Amino acid sequence: MLYIQRPSNYIVSLIILLPLTLLCITFLLPLSAYLSNPLVAGSSCVGGTAGNVRAAPAADDDAGHRPEISVLVGVHTTARKHSRRHLIRMEYALQQTPALRGAARVDVRFALCARPMPPEHRAFVALEARAHGDVLLFDCAESADQGKTYTYFAGLPSMLGAGAGGSRPYDYVMKVDDDTFLRLDALVETLRAAPREDMYCGVGLPFHDRAFPPFMLGMGYLLSWDLVEWIASSDMVRREATGAEDVTTGKWLNMGNKAKNRVNVFPRMYDYKSAKAEDFLENTIGVHQLKQDIRWAHTLEHFNLTTLELFNF
Ligand SMILES: *[C@@H]1O[C@H](CO)[C@@H](O)[C@H](O)[C@H]1NC(C)=O
Repeated sequence: MLYIQRPSNYIVSLIILLPLTLLCITFLLPLSAYLSNPLVAGSSCVGGTAGNVRAAPAADDDAGHRPEISVLVGVHTTARKHSRRHLIRMEYALQQTPALRGAARVDVRFALCARPMPPEHRAFVALEARAHGDVLLFDCAESADQGKTYTYFAGLPSMLGAGAGGSRPYDYVMKVDDDTFLRLDALVETLRAAPREDMYCGVGLPFHDRAFPPFMLGMGYLLSWDLVEWIASSDMVRREATGAEDVTTGKWLNMGNKAKNRVNVFPRMYDYKSAKAEDFLENTIGVHQLKQDIRWAHTLEHFNLTTLELFNF
C-alpha cells in the first residue's frame, strides 16, 4: 500500500510556479518598469503594472519621510566620455549621504543626444543605461549651440510623464556641464531658501547686474519646474531654440517675461584655479573647468571625497 501518495501534477506545478510567480512580482516587474522609465524606477513598486509607470512625486526615503525638495541634475555630456561619466557617477553617489537624502531628493542623470552615435558608443551607452538607469537620451544633434538645451528642458515633461494638472515630478531641474563638480549639500541648502516657482538660479552674467542678471553661466544653472513646462509649451522658445546655450536660456526667459526670481550664486560656483586650499571657497557650490583628470583629483581631494585607509599589519 502506498502511504505517501505521489503529489499530483497540479501540486507539482503549483510548487514550481509559485516561487517563479513571486520572483516575477518582486524582481521582473520593477526591472521592466526600470527599463521603460529609469527616472521613476525608485517608486515603481508603489504603482500598478509595468509599463504603466507614472512620474511619481518625490519618493519617500527609507524612514518614510518625504524630503522637502527634489532636484533633477542633468549632466550634459557626450556619448564617448564613458570614463568621465564613471567618475562623475561615483562622486555624486558618494555625496548621497543620509543627511542629504533627508533634506532633498537629488537625482543625477546624464543627458545625451542620440546623434551622432557611432556603434561602439551606442553599445557602451546602452550598457550604462541598462546597468545604472541614469542615462537620458534625447533626439538631438550633439552640439551645445544647436538646441540641445532646448531639447533637454522641452523634452523632460513628456519624458517624465508629467501630464496636465499632475503634480510636478521635481521642484527644480538643473543643467550642469560634465566638467563641473557640484557639492550637492551646498546646492540643496541654497535651494531650500529659494522660491519654488518662476525661479532661475546660477552664476549671473554680466557680473555688475547682481540682483537680476540677464542670464546664468552654462557651467550649471537651475529652473523651477513651472519654467520647464513653460519652455516645453512655448512656440516662441521653440523658434529661438538655437544659439549659445546659456545666453539663449536667459533670452527665452527675458523675452517671455519669466523668471522674476533670480538667485545669483556668484561667486560660489567658479572656475578651478589651482590645487591650493585658498583657491577653493569654503561655501563652494561648484567648481568648473575640470577637464583634466588631475583637476578632478585636486578638487575631490580638497572636498574630502577621497579618504583612503591604509591597511597596516
Ligand atoms: C577635510 O577634512 C579635514 C580633516 O578632517 C578638515 O580639516 C577639512 O576642513 C575638510 N575640508 C573640507 C573642505 O571640508
